[in-house]
Amino acid sequence: MHFSPVGLNALAAEVVDAQRPLALAQGLVLEFRPAEAEPVAWGDPDGLRMVLINLVRNSIQYTPAGGRVEVATGEVEREGRRWATVTVADTGIGIPKDELPYIFDRFFRGERPRQMQIPGTGLGLSIVKEIVDRHGGRVTVESEAGKGTRFTVWLPAAEEGTRTTDDGPLTTDDGRWTTDHGPRTTDH
Ligand SMILES: Nc1ncnc2c1ncn2[C@@H]1O[C@H](COP(=O)(O)OP(=O)(O)OP(=O)(O)O)[C@@H](O)[C@H]1O
Ligand SMILES: [Mg+2]
Repeated sequence: MHFSPVGLNALAAEVVDAQRPLALAQGLVLEFRPAEAEPVAWGDPDGLRMVLINLVRNSIQYTPAGGRVEVATGEVEREGRRWATVTVADTGIGIPKDELPYIFDRFFRGERPRQMQIPGTGLGLSIVKEIVDRHGGRVTVESEAGKGTRFTVWLPAAEEGTRTTDDGPLTTDDGRWTTDHGPRTTDH
C-alpha cells in the first residue's frame, strides 16, 4: 500500500458515480452528501476505493427496489484524534442481531441473502476490515433487521502539514505506522 493524503469527497463522488447505474437498475436512489470542508484521510487511494465499492455494492445488493442508499463524508474528533469518516447507509433488509458478530468473517453470508439467492462469496466485508485495519482505522455498523444498515469507516485524518506539502510518507511502504498520530495540539 502507498499512503498519501486522500480527499474523501473526491473519492466517494467517484465511487458513487460509478455505482449509480447499478443502483438505478435496481430501482434505488443513490445519494452523496459530501462534508462542506473536504475530509482528508491518510490512506492508500486504491485500498480506500475498494472499501467504498464493497460497502456501496452491499447496500445496493441488500436494499429492495424503492429504497435509498446514502453516502456521506465527515471529519470528527474522537478519542483525542481527528478522523475522516465515510458512512454508507441504506434502507435495506438489515442485519439480524445474531449475525452482526460474524459479518466481517471471511466467507460469512447472512441467511436472508442466501435464501434470496443473492450471489456472493462472503469476502467483501473481510476485505473492507483488512484494509481499514491497515490504515489504523475502524469500521462500525448499526443495523436493524427489516429497516436498514449504516456502516461508518473511520480513518486517521491526514495531518494538516501533509495535505499541501510533500514532506514524504509517515509510514513505511508496507503500511505500518512509523509515527504516532496523536491529537493535534496546536490548533484548538
Ligand atoms: N448493507 C447491508 N445490508 C444488509 N446485510 C448486509 C449489508 N452488508 C453486508 N450484509 C450482510 O453481511 C454479509 C457479509 O457481507 P460481505 O460483503 O462480506 O459478503 P457478501 O456480500 O455476502 O458476498 P461478497 O463476497 O460478494 O461481497 C452479507 O452476506 C449480508 O448478510
Ligand atoms: Mg458483499
